[in-house]
Amino acid sequence: MDTLEAILTRTSVRAFTDDPVTDDLVDTLLKAMIAAPSGGNKQPWRIFVVRNLDIKRQLARGAGDQEFVAEAPVVFVVCRVPDESGQRYGSRGRNLYSIQDTAAMTQNLLLAAHAIGLGGCWVGAFKEEEIATAINTPASVIPVAIIPIGKPANPRNVRGRKSLDQVVHFIS
Ligand SMILES: Cc1cc2nc3c(=O)[nH]c(=O)nc-3n(C[C@H](O)[C@H](O)[C@H](O)COP(=O)(O)O)c2cc1C
Repeated sequence: MDTLEAILTRTSVRAFTDDPVTDDLVDTLLKAMIAAPSGGNKQPWRIFVVRNLDIKRQLARGAGDQEFVAEAPVVFVVCRVPDESGQRYGSRGRNLYSIQDTAAMTQNLLLAAHAIGLGGCWVGAFKEEEIATAINTPASVIPVAIIPIGKPANPRNVRGRKSLDQVVHFIS
């Protein structure tokens, strides 16, 4: 699958088969994640890879009982480290770049997973403190996204998009 096809055919996956996601596949996904761009190449991120069922359940609970989080074979938690960007870029680094950088990393994960026959969903609705407690992070490391990953159990469910007319302005 080429990059454009991956971008155009990715959809969120919230139901998974029992097929395992091997450590080799996790390694491939991690390499795709850290290939994301970041402001000044500061890479102000940490990645937690969770297979433990108790912790996955805590993540699902912290995300408002989104049970599919606990049902995935592996769950990634992407965190930002605002100070690592803030040291160079001040408040713009802390409050903007560290979020953009970890968002780019999260999208890389979703696209890479799709490209190798897996799927996942970007889960952003959660209580930060509960997720930080579940993965035992200090206050300097802030959870940004929870991404359950596994083999899709169902056919893709394509969500609509606004038309180009609604969102694009050409300025010549
Ligand atoms: C910042 C962000 C937060 C999201 N949070 C959740 C979430 O908490 N739970 C969920 O099921 N989907 C969540 N999603 C997934 C969106 O619902 C999904 O991407 C959107 O409906 C478009 O569908 P598609 O990904 O299949 O194209 C989130 C996506 C983003 C980018």
